[in-house]
Amino acid sequence: MITKHFFGSLEDGREIYSYMMKNANGMTVRICEFGGAIMEIRVPDRWGRMSDVVGGYDSLRDYVLGDGYLGALIGRVGNRICDGKYTLDGKEYTAFINNGKNSLHGGQVGFSHKIWSVKPIDGEEPRLVLTLVSPDGDEGYPGTLTVTVTYALLKSNALSIHYEATTDQRTIVNLTNHAYFNLGGYASGKVFDHVLQMDADRYLPTDDSLIPTGELRAVDGTPFDFREPKTIGRDFDMENPDIKIAGGFDHCFCFAGGETKEPVLRVEVYEPNSGRMMQVYTNQPAIQFYSGNFLNNPEHPLKGGYPQNLQALFCLETQKMPDSINHPNFDNIVLDPGEKYDYTTIYQFSVKN
Ligand code: GAL
Repeated sequence: MITKHFFGSLEDGREIYSYMMKNANGMTVRICEFGGAIMEIRVPDRWGRMSDVVGGYDSLRDYVLGDGYLGALIGRVGNRICDGKYTLDGKEYTAFINNGKNSLHGGQVGFSHKIWSVKPIDGEEPRLVLTLVSPDGDEGYPGTLTVTVTYALLKSNALSIHYEATTDQRTIVNLTNHAYFNLGGYASGKVFDHVLQMDADRYLPTDDSLIPTGELRAVDGTPFDFREPKTIGRDFDMENPDIKIAGGFDHCFCFAGGETKEPVLRVEVYEPNSGRMMQVYTNQPAIQFYSGNFLNNPEHPLKGGYPQNLQALFCLETQKMPDSINHPNFDNIVLDPGEKYDYTTIYQFSVKN
């Protein structure tokens, strides 16, 4: 079932709506036209009690002015581009600098701050088809990029996100979603007890502006080794230069074997108090695991007035490696006319006793 709700008006008077999808189990997912943001995901715990497991805001104003990209779709290029500069076919481009000396998450008005057009397709597995046309030169990126993101709420209590894009000129694209999770409920405190497992054998160390140095470092013997399940908190305070720079986990993890044809299970997170588990399936080659190290802006409290709190939510952003365009040994994020950007990420929810 899909229902449409008025959410708020922008300063210029444009009305913004949200869409609530619900499946037969009572799981709900609410998506906003603004930023295509996931505003709410309600899933049962091991006793069947529903909680909202993603961070979000109560007011449109916070989505417009807040700096955390809560639940939003990210584009054209997720994460940071060093100095906002890159070269494509011998031509230098400058993406908008909005994070120290770097460009972050698509620039000044990235996809997280655009109004998406939403087509609801109701049914047993309700879907929302979001589209956006990003004009040639938008935020310093060449080519008209036509983007479709389909959110589907599956019978199995999964949220599937299918990303598609085409261009009319050679360009670069690296899309993701910036949902912040806490499987105990978004207002249940720090996430250190969550048990995380990731099929990632390498991670990307960064400089102090969080730009990858270019090295793909083996996770062996580091706090970044999540190949066997361990709590997020276990090695959080370990003396480690990479953790220190980022104030926690805020790193790209590269999946063993890289990109796959079909989505495969790559990440599993379990919250022992509620019993909730989330599994991430994707065909993307990497994931940014971010432990909410900037989440402390008192001006933009979360839903219900709950304050932002460091490490009280985490993101698992499937994508290609950050700043790939400036590192020949990283992923290819170039999209050519006639080619289709086509990736799927599935967040599967369940419980474990
Ligand atoms: C993450 C990024 C963080 C931070 C955050 C937004 O994707 O890795 O460094 O910028 O977005 O606050």
